Amino acid sequence: MGKKVILTGDRPTGKLHIGHYVGSLKNRVELQNSGDYDSYIMIADMQALTDNARDPEKIRNSLIQVALDYLAVGIDPEKSTILVQSQIPALSELTEHYSNLVSVSRLERNPTVKTEIKQKKFGQSVPVGFFTYPISQAADITAFKADTVPVGDDQEPMLEQTREIVRSFNSIYNQDILVEPEGYFPPKGMGRIPGLDGNAKMSKSLGNAIYLSDDPDTIKQKVMSMYTDPNHIHVEDPGQVEGNTVFTYLDIFDDDKAKVQELKVQYTHGGLGDVKIKLYLNEVLQSVLGPIKARRDEYASDIASVYDILKRGSDKANEVANQTLQEVRDAIGINYFK
Ligand code: TRP
Repeated sequence: MGKKVILTGDRPTGKLHIGHYVGSLKNRVELQNSGDYDSYIMIADMQALTDNARDPEKIRNSLIQVALDYLAVGIDPEKSTILVQSQIPALSELTEHYSNLVSVSRLERNPTVKTEIKQKKFGQSVPVGFFTYPISQAADITAFKADTVPVGDDQEPMLEQTREIVRSFNSIYNQDILVEPEGYFPPKGMGRIPGLDGNAKMSKSLGNAIYLSDDPDTIKQKVMSMYTDPNHIHVEDPGQVEGNTVFTYLDIFDDDKAKVQELKVQYTHGGLGDVKIKLYLNEVLQSVLGPIKARRDEYASDIASVYDILKRGSDKANEVANQTLQEVRDAIGINYFK
């Protein structure tokens, strides 16, 4: 048996933040380092363009930022293949073949796309490319015959749709060439971390994120401004831990669980001030993010080498995706001149 295969990726619409880190990047690095997988990590610029066609510069700039974030957290180009979606033409042809196997009403039922269409306020003007991106995502996954897709919980509908496409394809063309993928989800509670303001979601558009590229002063400033317990006014007041973003972050980022527990007890009894817990969280975050930022700065000082990593990864990905495309063409029977 060969190794298991991972394919996953991100839309390059901005820099990545600590929510991405705990929600998926950390998982990917662990899986990569386990040595049990062939790992493909895709910067999905085509998918990002499906709702940013009028602002390609944003996508271009974000592409390199996301690449830096990957390298910073420990995605290692010697162990994982980092590729750029737009540089793999076979993906577009696969998407077109799969499009014939999916109905408009099936696309309309995809809950993640439904939610995004509302959030993005397209009104009556949903771009066709956006509406159909789950099909293109199926192409991303199947081109590499990935069986394992480490993603956030919101991506489960994409995996479900991919499995349906794989089953249709394999049954219609009587072949066993495409592989049904499984999602690999973050540990419970890590899937979504709240924003600095206590909002359930950390996101660029809400302005409540700590980025992997933030410098130590910015991190500290953000931590000191965090949402805690609005009723905890005086140091001696009993405070609430539940829903208190500082403690939520400590639960996620501090390995010293006994210490966190001790702080929680003190805070609940009263006598522990917000400034103190914030300063402590700041220390914890600085020690997690410091090495990441250092590695990021090192790569950022030589951008040409980062593009080179992306080019090498995309070259390798092209070989694999072209091979799958040939098999798909053979299965459909449109390799007329072979
Ligand atoms: N849809 C994913 C997101 O929004 C990005 C993505 C594109 C992806 N292609 C993929 C994820 C293939 C996993 C597999 O984050």
